[in-house]
Amino acid sequence: MNIIITGASSGIGRALAYHYAKVGYTLFLIARRKEKLIEIQNELNKFCRVKIFEVDVSEFDKLTHIINNIVNLNSKIDLVIANAGVSLGHNSEFSNFKDFKKLTDINYLSIHALLSPIVPKMQKQKSGKIVVISSLASIISMPSSIAYSSSKRALNSYTEGLRNLLIKDNIKVINIQPGFIESEMTAKNSFKMPFFMSNENGVKRIIYAIDKNKKEYKFPKRFYYFIKFISILPLSLKDKIINKFSPKKAT
Ligand SMILES: NC(=O)c1ccc[n+]([C@@H]2O[C@H](COP(=O)([O-])OP(=O)(O)OC[C@H]3O[C@@H](n4cnc5c(N)ncnc54)[C@H](OP(=O)(O)O)[C@@H]3O)[C@@H](O)[C@H]2O)c1
Repeated sequence: MNIIITGASSGIGRALAYHYAKVGYTLFLIARRKEKLIEIQNELNKFCRVKIFEVDVSEFDKLTHIINNIVNLNSKIDLVIANAGVSLGHNSEFSNFKDFKKLTDINYLSIHALLSPIVPKMQKQKSGKIVVISSLASIISMPSSIAYSSSKRALNSYTEGLRNLLIKDNIKVINIQPGFIESEMTAKNSFKMPFFMSNENGVKRIIYAIDKNKKEYKFPKRFYYFIKFISILPLSLKDKIINKFSPKKAT
């Protein structure tokens, strides 16, 4: 079985690579930091075949070229996990366009570049699973992280359409929306993160959602219900709460 994971050099993506290596998948791992990918390849080679690709997913042509080469190998693509993502941290300033565009390219547009060669391949196979890592931050947009929240909300809309488009081809589309999980990304946050999960616990839940073919999986549940409740309040009340809880300092 073959799996492609983007953002495999650290955090959630790295832990997923370790899990799928141990259950015998052939791994195709993508990230920018080659030295980290080599380290992972050296450690996982004893379990399975591991191919690594050093690429910035926002360089769409390069990404598509690499993925084309993978799909042209004469074997099925069973699972793809679109996990690569960045945050600009939390900042009380209005983001500059360059940073906003870069984040949107990585967190949102790269997903379509990644899937462009994969979806037709899976449609021919009449099988496959596509997983995207969104975020609970997609449900409410904090003034301190507008770019991040909007990129993830766009991703939710994208996967909703894609899921229904691909049902007839027996392709599962799974949207995962985690709360705060220990990783390089959250290590940069200087505020107290509610319901913070260890990397191991967070990744265990992601694997559960993938195994069970959950269409959308939001966790931890208590944090999700809290955010969901705020999201349905009248706007004046909702805005007061958002402003109260929004981190004010740049991190
Ligand atoms: N941790 C959380 O609390 C949390 C919560 C909700 C959602 N998420 C989402 O989970 C995903 C993984 O994040 P993480 O928490 O594991 O953070 P992380 O440790 O910072 O991992 C991010 C991964 O994405 C890769 N990446 C970033 N920009 C890239 C680019 N331009 N091209 C290729 N690869 C790129 C990084 O590798 P290189 O730097 O080597 O390229 C790294 O492997 C992200 O989509 C994030 O938004 C995280």
